[in-house]
Amino acid sequence: MVPVHYIESGAGTPLVLLHAFPVDARMWNPLRSRLEEQARVITPDQRGLGESSLDGTTARGMIEPAAAPLTVDRPSVDVAAADVLELLDQLELPRVVLGGCSMGGYVAMAVLRAAPQRVAGLLLVDTKAPADTDEQRTNRLNVASRAEKEGTGGWLAENMLPNLLGSATREKRPEVVGDLRALIEAQPADGVAWAQRAMAARPDSVEALRAFDGPAMVAVGAEDTITPPAAAREMADALPRGELVELAGSGHLPSLEAPDALADAVRPWLAGIDV
Ligand code: MLT
Repeated sequence: MVPVHYIESGAGTPLVLLHAFPVDARMWNPLRSRLEEQARVITPDQRGLGESSLDGTTARGMIEPAAAPLTVDRPSVDVAAADVLELLDQLELPRVVLGGCSMGGYVAMAVLRAAPQRVAGLLLVDTKAPADTDEQRTNRLNVASRAEKEGTGGWLAENMLPNLLGSATREKRPEVVGDLRALIEAQPADGVAWAQRAMAARPDSVEALRAFDGPAMVAVGAEDTITPPAAAREMADALPRGELVELAGSGHLPSLEAPDALADAVRPWLAGIDV
């Protein structure tokens, strides 16, 4: 277990939001500010990213470093999910509404596999349930090796930006493009490599979704090409109480691209959840 750094604000329904790759908890800030009158919004940095260290030995400006050096755990979304559960224990939160965007959705589904009783409601944003294909896995392992060899400056943002943001955002909102580039450039190479290997190893989560009978919202940017609306529809269909929301004018990261529309969809849904 590695202590995770998190940002917390607001009061009300406990809402834990897990971030996408290759960014950190700050991607949720636009949504957080729109929900904090209704929710206690808790956004962890996944181990190795943001201010959470990979092995607990080099606290990146947070909690306490481990007394003795730890080894780096094998890359796995199940390990990332165990970190989230450990954080909930520390915060004395037996149950929360759990949300995740893309990689954060993969980790949220891993929490659902491990401890469904802790999930009072599930918010899946621009993510998908199936495991990777062999080709996707190979690409991830190549990105992991390149990050370790070259660091994350320049190439990672160049490669990912066109896919992460929708065309409307890329063409008309240079400030969002600039903010996202800065978030990507801030991520340490070891954490980026670990996250890619963890995602490459993740299993299919469709059965976990089918088994979850709590309230579930699946939100997707209409312009998302990484996890497109069809993938969102499959998750909403698998979830017994799944509700699908498509967000116009957004790509893969609606918290940055369409925070008003995402917040407008989440507020009434959240209000109906009894944690
Ligand atoms: C993300 O946004 O977290 C990633 O694009 C997810 C992925 O690579 O599958």
